[in-house]
Amino acid sequence: MTSNPSWLLKHFPAGMPALDDFTLEDRPVPVPRPGELLVRTLWLSVDPYMRARLSPAKNYAAGLRIGDLMQGGGVGEVVAAEAPGFKAGDIILADDFAWQPFTTIAAKTATVLDPNDVPVQTLLGPLGMPGLTAYFALLDVGRPKQGETVLISAASGAVGQIAGQIARIKGLDPVAVVGSDAKVEWCKSIGYRTGINHRTAQDLTKAVAAACPNGVDVFMDNTAGPIHDAALLNINLFGRIVVVGTVALADRFDQPDIGPRYLRRILVSRVRIEGFLLDDFEAAYGTAKAQLSEWYKQGSLEIREDVSEGIETAPQAFIRMLKGENFGKQLVKL
Ligand SMILES: NC(=O)c1ccc[n+]([C@@H]2O[C@H](COP(=O)([O-])OP(=O)(O)OC[C@H]3O[C@@H](n4cnc5c(N)ncnc54)[C@H](OP(=O)(O)O)[C@@H]3O)[C@@H](O)[C@H]2O)c1
Repeated sequence: MTSNPSWLLKHFPAGMPALDDFTLEDRPVPVPRPGELLVRTLWLSVDPYMRARLSPAKNYAAGLRIGDLMQGGGVGEVVAAEAPGFKAGDIILADDFAWQPFTTIAAKTATVLDPNDVPVQTLLGPLGMPGLTAYFALLDVGRPKQGETVLISAASGAVGQIAGQIARIKGLDPVAVVGSDAKVEWCKSIGYRTGINHRTAQDLTKAVAAACPNGVDVFMDNTAGPIHDAALLNINLFGRIVVVGTVALADRFDQPDIGPRYLRRILVSRVRIEGFLLDDFEAAYGTAKAQLSEWYKQGSLEIREDVSEGIETAPQAFIRMLKGENFGKQLVKL
């Protein structure tokens, strides 16, 4: 327990993050202070929101500073506990894991998991933050009605794969927008009626029209960018657009992200466009977690993970996910 290779932020990325924005440093294994846990990291989650944290620009949460340890969601095993309610051997989930094999976690942010209930890493994906995002963004903000067409971007990713399956379970008509033909096929296999490859479609607006002959009632926008405009041009009367994420803007994060604005279209169709932030739904997490877990245990939720092995691979895993090279929930296994 002497070597602890740890990833630090070297500089703020200009555009798409690159390996050179991060630096690997061998740090001592930290000593937990009162109220902290020393944890051996088992899984790290790399998520699109981290792009926003690598910028001095204002965001809904504080960003990292140069020289800070990289941080994100994770699952690990408690090695030593300086807090009541925890003991060595506990498996915990927290959203402030540093990118290092041994890390300290504030006990108040940690949740003890039952390793015999579900595979623990699913708490970083379908049964955790991304799954909850899919649930609330689609059902509570999208408010779809039986049979409505729901268009979902980044449809095979951590959020999208669960959103599409919830739509199927709820009797909706889910249509995927993804970045490869293999992703289209997989989305169809988990219940999407059809899918569009946004990287090869000649004309995205026409592709959405062809895939959604009855128009789009709900668009779950996980990416922003040109897909947003194509969806808006196919939106139905009283359609709903849930703005969940802007991962398509990862390479121009600090630039204005407003493209063509079809205000006349919004007016004529009385479209509701609403931003989504998972934290706003905290009071209802219990109900949603129970429902997601029930569907998962019944075998109603198919799950696809993309696992990168070893702490050395963490920045690479993060960057490939931002570029759409991941196929399923991107994780790092230590
Ligand atoms: N607001 C919230 O509270 C909240 C919470 C969780 C997640 N989110 C957002 O939800 C979205 C999905 O997150 P996730 O964790 O499920 O990630 P993910 O879908 O597993 O991975 C990101 C995906 O984004 C797509 N993408 C990347 N660049 C793109 C581009 N230029 N154009 C179109 N698509 C592109 C790629 O899929 P393709 O290959 O299919 O294009 C890539 O696989 C993100 O925008 C994230 O920020 C928001």
